[in-house]
Amino acid sequence: MTEIVSLPITSWDQPISSEQQTLAIDALESGNVVLLPQLPFVVRDDERPLLESDVMQGIKNVSLSPSNGSFKGSKGSEAEQQQLQAMMMRFATATRTLANNLLSPYEHGLQQARASFRPVEIAGRPTSWRKDDTRLHVDNFPSSPTLGKRILRVFSNINPNDQPRVWRLGEPFESVAKRYLASVPKPMWGSSAVLNALGITKCPRSAYDHYMLRLHDSMKADLKYQAEVDQHEQLFPANTTWMVFTDQVSHAAMSGQFVLEQTFLLPVEFLRHPAQAPLRVLERLTGRGLV
Ligand SMILES: [Fe+2]
Repeated sequence: MTEIVSLPITSWDQPISSEQQTLAIDALESGNVVLLPQLPFVVRDDERPLLESDVMQGIKNVSLSPSNGSFKGSKGSEAEQQQLQAMMMRFATATRTLANNLLSPYEHGLQQARASFRPVEIAGRPTSWRKDDTRLHVDNFPSSPTLGKRILRVFSNINPNDQPRVWRLGEPFESVAKRYLASVPKPMWGSSAVLNALGITKCPRSAYDHYMLRLHDSMKADLKYQAEVDQHEQLFPANTTWMVFTDQVSHAAMSGQFVLEQTFLLPVEFLRHPAQAPLRVLERLTGRGLV
């Protein structure tokens, strides 16, 4: 079962002992969630109006690329958009600092990808089954193959009304893989080149990405599995932060509104326990290299 490992970290830039670093890394790589219950991302008073539903009405996801400032999906006046962009950049900087301190053995491998702001209430939001993140799944990016890199995500619940973010957490990655791998067809020869040539993917999809995508879809399409698999509910209170390898941990976001999220990618060679990585698990189960 996925465990929640809490650490008493109270600021984004505090030095962290090597014992705590090892504790966090071992927990994350074993498929657990690291919860920082005393680490809020503080929304300033002048930013509070951004957390009122009418400013962000109808917006599912605003994204920011911290490396080049590219900012997508926002609404509202120009001033509001600039304010949101600045708040997200502050969050991106804070998470990078935290990652460098808490996960310092990863420092030279962590690639900071997009940050996102999710202002919509999850519960009751209409969506297709494949995009329905209230179903248990493991993450992958259909158009941006990771080629085996890990997906590490840092979340902060910034809900102004003390509303928790409610997740379900499911079975370990290897159990998911063993359950569905036999029913996943092998990648079709030439298909990754075609998808890439058509611009559907940003680089050719590796066999690893093929299997991860199919595992994601198999889990979400299987309603009996969703109902019956070993799972538990987990609440992340407002003003807390948590991090998790979402390519490994079966998760579903059931309810909640206003969360900030920062994605990092990490090549497998930087892991302390690479045998636990989805890439290595799938290679072991399929008996071949997948990247
Ligand atoms: Fe997810």
